[in-house]
Amino acid sequence: MQRRDFHRWAQAHALAIALAPWQQAVGQASSDARRWRDNPFTLGVASGQPRAESVVLWTRLLVSAQDRADPGLDPARVLCEVFADEALRQRVWHSEITTDAQRGHSVHAVAQGLTPARMYWYRFRCGEATSPTGRTRTAPRAQADVGRLRLALASCQHYEQGEYVAHADIAQQELDLVVFVGDYIYESSNPRLALRKHTGGEPKTLDEYRLRYALYKSDPNLQAAHAAHPWLLMWDDHEVVNDYANDRDPRNSPLASFMQRRAAAYQAYFEHQPLALGPDPGSPWGASMRLHDKLSWGRLADIWTLDCRQYRSPQACPDPNRGGGRVVTQCAELDDASRTLLGNAQEAWLYDGLRQSTATWKVLAQATQISPTSVNTPLGRATYTDAWDGYPHARRRLLQTLADGNVADVLTLGGDVHMNVAAQLRLQPNDDNSPVLASEFVATSITSRGLSESVLNAARTANPDIVYARADERGYALIDIQPHAATCEFRTTPFPAGTRADLSVQARFQVERGRAGPVKL
Ligand SMILES: [Fe+2]
Repeated sequence: MQRRDFHRWAQAHALAIALAPWQQAVGQASSDARRWRDNPFTLGVASGQPRAESVVLWTRLLVSAQDRADPGLDPARVLCEVFADEALRQRVWHSEITTDAQRGHSVHAVAQGLTPARMYWYRFRCGEATSPTGRTRTAPRAQADVGRLRLALASCQHYEQGEYVAHADIAQQELDLVVFVGDYIYESSNPRLALRKHTGGEPKTLDEYRLRYALYKSDPNLQAAHAAHPWLLMWDDHEVVNDYANDRDPRNSPLASFMQRRAAAYQAYFEHQPLALGPDPGSPWGASMRLHDKLSWGRLADIWTLDCRQYRSPQACPDPNRGGGRVVTQCAELDDASRTLLGNAQEAWLYDGLRQSTATWKVLAQATQISPTSVNTPLGRATYTDAWDGYPHARRRLLQTLADGNVADVLTLGGDVHMNVAAQLRLQPNDDNSPVLASEFVATSITSRGLSESVLNAARTANPDIVYARADERGYALIDIQPHAATCEFRTTPFPAGTRADLSVQARFQVERGRAGPVKL
């Protein structure tokens, strides 16, 4: 008999009261007095999606085989506690969360009723085990006059291709937020570049994705960056499979099998991140999950996190033998105005939000590079189809919205391309007569290898809108937003990032309020 059927049967026979002491005993065994043979909190803790009065807190019990064999584990009851002080004396919020194997023993708690713009400390307890302590902070009130927003912009952390020294640096900074814009895990391997090894092969099932996340989450530097600051998260392609677009993977797998894989990947993503909502159980295939979001940082900034994968049109002019992105020269499909990178609903939501925003700065955090990198060849302009260059009408609609609505002081933040970029965004790319409408910063990868200098040089030369681009170093960008100006500091270390590496400042740029376009400092 299924558990649910048993409960119905018990209720129908009025046995619920008689069973109550037994249920309590089970609960106590799983929560209050459980003795663990192995520490279940080895994946660390995290916080995210901060609001003025709430924040999402996360952990996942990694249950060893020995502990799994013990009866009474499921459902496990986990106590989540929030404190106003670092010494953990003033507890201001707590809740008991129930979790089980179905959700990978992940724990998501939304701490409510908190004070705006304040630091908090949190931890989890299950039986006799206690998690490491995390620190987080709430957002300011919507109408608050805020003098500063400091965030780290990061992406692309192939585990095999380097150490997470950038995360150790992020953990040490005084920050309001970490904004991670995708490629949190990689499904693929390149043995030639491996400083350390993935366990297992390419993940396709829920259990395989769980193992991959557990490996990444086991890294102490990554854990430190999560425990130090709240994160805003957006995914790109490698959280599922390289270059996937909406319901298609580059191998042109049958729809049902790819959507099963996407559902597994999204479920695992949710289970390992501080997110309030997971996959939508009512969606076809169970493979849909709303991740795009908007956060206000007082009157200083509105921040949108944009999903560039789940709703996009397939890449234009694919190789007939495999889908995904590639470099094309003659491709009429690029001129199809109906093609979209964000999907129509997300576009409409974003444009409405941009037009209505009264914040000083409008920050768009999204996966990839918006400014053009295409180059001239004897066969015509060569365009890489997976990034915004492959969706020129979608890029134009975004910039037209800024122009038509006089939406000023827009900063776009991106990742994916494994290089530091500062760029100007115009309606007509690279055309001096077309006004600069927004400023772009793309942060290099935490570890993943970058483009060669020769390829990058061709892109720089063909695109004067690119003010700065360097692909040879790994790291992240520190973005400091103040009412009069926003600065970007690229903090990097040479590739590959080793255990003892230190980060240093590669370059700094500023955008003045009322004057779009990054200027080197
Ligand atoms: Fe990447």
